[in-house]
Amino acid sequence: MSEVPSPSATSRILIFDTTLRDGEQSPGASLNLQEKVEIAHALEQLGVDIIEAGFPITSPGDFEAVRTIGKEIKRATVAGLARCTERDVRRAGDAVQGAAHGRIHIFCATSKIHREFKLRKAKDEIIRLTVESIKLAREYVADIEFSPEDASRTEPDFLADVVHAAIDAGATTINCPDTVGYTTPEEYRELFAQLIARVPGAKNVIFSAHCHDDLGLAVANSLAAVAGGARQIECTINGIGERAGNAALEEIAMAVRTRPDFYPYTTGIVSNRLVPISRLVSTLTGMHVQRNKAIVGDNAFAHESGIHQDGMLKERRTYEIISPEDVGLIQTKLVLGKHSGRHAFRNRLEELGHRLDDASLDKAFEKFKILCDKKKEIYDEDLEALVEQQLEGEKQLFQLTNLQVMSGMNGTATAMVSLTDASGTVITDAATGDGPIDAMFAAISRLTHIAATLDSFQVRSVTGGKEAQGEVSVELSHSGRKIRGRGFSTDILEASARAYLAAINRIRTMTERTIGQASSLEA
Ligand code: KIV
Ligand code: ZN
Repeated sequence: MSEVPSPSATSRILIFDTTLRDGEQSPGASLNLQEKVEIAHALEQLGVDIIEAGFPITSPGDFEAVRTIGKEIKRATVAGLARCTERDVRRAGDAVQGAAHGRIHIFCATSKIHREFKLRKAKDEIIRLTVESIKLAREYVADIEFSPEDASRTEPDFLADVVHAAIDAGATTINCPDTVGYTTPEEYRELFAQLIARVPGAKNVIFSAHCHDDLGLAVANSLAAVAGGARQIECTINGIGERAGNAALEEIAMAVRTRPDFYPYTTGIVSNRLVPISRLVSTLTGMHVQRNKAIVGDNAFAHESGIHQDGMLKERRTYEIISPEDVGLIQTKLVLGKHSGRHAFRNRLEELGHRLDDASLDKAFEKFKILCDKKKEIYDEDLEALVEQQLEGEKQLFQLTNLQVMSGMNGTATAMVSLTDASGTVITDAATGDGPIDAMFAAISRLTHIAATLDSFQVRSVTGGKEAQGEVSVELSHSGRKIRGRGFSTDILEASARAYLAAINRIRTMTERTIGQASSLEA
């Protein structure tokens, strides 16, 4: 009889995507159910192994996201997060129970600083809670992941004790998070190597890395963990996540693919889906990808200097270690025009990773035709803007119905804004301001009764050319939180009003969600 190899001796790395959970914890990056489901489908197409779809106890919205995604996703495993409490575990269990492949992911802080200041619990109490929660979770599903939170700052002996207890209680994956992004590649690799060598039963479970990017080491640390025996990496699209973010999925996947001599492993990632999903996540969360971001940034494959361009013309490999097509960057960007039909429109959206239902597709197609009248050439970026506008519009409580602005160099600007509210009533008000933008935003605040501080306002053109659509991004502060909004239009004032209104609508949704969260997190 042949022996089953220990997971840490195999060459396959499981990719655990937490864009919808840790990623969504980025300030201002909230997503609605439809958007989460859309991203989950794109993640499945990308080939991730596990999708962490939410933290069910935190809000009805998170519960529903885990439940719905669990039902819709057939190949990948869908995980729901829980703390070590009975209520959390039961809620996560209820959420994943109908999933084709469900996982409960339980975490409990183990480092001294978390034990003393956050949990105020002794070591034996933490072990007891860990064991009880894992045993309870096993009543719901067999696939249980346990994370000793802040593992990288936990005393090695205690970490080994907790991991041992978790494995004995039935955990099948042990994730050792670098919660505060503090570790280094050497230290983190050693943490895994030591645990796997010394904890009884460690060779029968999968070890997992989960790194934050506070020191810019998240990807390097994750890959070092694999050298130490980890075979699951937790990461997010575009590296979004708490504070400086999580390890970026696209960077991990391409490092493994590009340097097999150093990383002799495989993942299930379909690399040419990386750019489309990066754009999808950026569009739906409103979080821009920095231009020089590795793999998916606008400049990742741009060569500016003459010497580089000359080298590229002679032989691409002189300055290019990855070909843009391998990550799904299609160089011919002109895609559709006035004569394109609904079918071509839907196909291109699907290639970009967007799956709209028939009703949303019809509305987006109507907007596409209107855009074609204003703009001869439609690019991928225009389509993405259009989908964002469509999805944003669907979740808006207030819709922009009309806008009239008067301004000049001398004197006060005036804006008259009409909105349609959730009941379908059109409401109109006017306001004055220092300039047209100030006047429009003041009118919107009066109409919605939400006053927020404008922290940042940015305009950029979606594509090149004089007919290009403008994209306006705003960041507002409200009740101590940051909220983002984006708006698109060939008219920059209209794009500004849309961006501001998108943020105001998010504030409304978040206020409702916070009320839900506060009541479910009590006790
Ligand atoms: O960073 C962290 O420790 C986490 C855990 C909940 C896994 O996100
Ligand atoms: Zn995290």
